[in-house]
Amino acid sequence: MPDMSALSDRLRERGQKIAFVPTMGALHEGHLALLTAAREYADQVVVSIFVNPIQFAPGEDFERYPRDLNGDKKKLKPFEPLILFCPSAAAMFPGDFKTRIEVEEISQKLCGKFRLGHFKGVATVVAKLFNIVKPHFALFGEKDYQQLLVIKQLVRDLNLGIKIIACPTVREYDGLALSSRNRNLSAPERKAATVLYRALTRAKKEIEGGETDTRRILLSLGRLIGFEPTVRVEYIAIVDPETLREVKDIKGKVLVALAARLGKTRLIDNLLITP
Ligand code: PAJ
Repeated sequence: MPDMSALSDRLRERGQKIAFVPTMGALHEGHLALLTAAREYADQVVVSIFVNPIQFAPGEDFERYPRDLNGDKKKLKPFEPLILFCPSAAAMFPGDFKTRIEVEEISQKLCGKFRLGHFKGVATVVAKLFNIVKPHFALFGEKDYQQLLVIKQLVRDLNLGIKIIACPTVREYDGLALSSRNRNLSAPERKAATVLYRALTRAKKEIEGGETDTRRILLSLGRLIGFEPTVRVEYIAIVDPETLREVKDIKGKVLVALAARLGKTRLIDNLLITP
């Protein structure tokens, strides 16, 4: 870790621009799209792989979270030269680590209601990674839309001086958003999971067709997902894309966001829709 920090200092002294892609590994095309975009912004790209224990609540899938460092290294080969940063949990969070960063309001909406302390863990680790890597740019996926808003607020509030770049969600051929957790789906769960994107596209069709009553749209999405009994919806919401506050009557751009459980696997997805 001191090495990463010193390397960043040297790069900065040489006037090089650093773009940073934080990840938890088990890399897929969604992560790789962030790396491709990162190259456009900077001379040096840093990617971190760290399964952050403090963003998982007790009983969540920290143990089951896929880990594949060798596979990840192979996927990163085509992106060389690249700086790969894989800190250990002991280096990141030694026994006497006591600080938590809380981004209020945004963190309490949507996933925040179901994953207690999750965004506190995310904000804390990302702030720490930013302080080690000292990037000029950091890239995040819209797939984790709420996380993106939390990080933007964090950077604004703490004057971190890092430009946050949002990248569009990369999907499978059938619309399922790529996620490291997809590896944990059984074949029938994988098939059933496509209903999530179908629900989002139905919302898009209805909103673009002039429907403004979010209650009616949510009922229709609930019915569609109901055809897949293995999919247990945690929430579906139509919200303001900046504040994540619920919208009743659609007048402008909205975010349709959802979280669902298939067996032990929790998936999230969202779509930005302009009427
Ligand atoms: P992880 O889930 O590994 O995601 C790392 C980055 O990849 C995030 O910015 C996420 O939004 C992006 N990403 C994931 N799936 C994507 C997809 N299908 N399309 C586009 N981008 C995608 O998010 C985290 O890790 C962690 O919370 C982290 C920020 C690293 C902090 O621990």
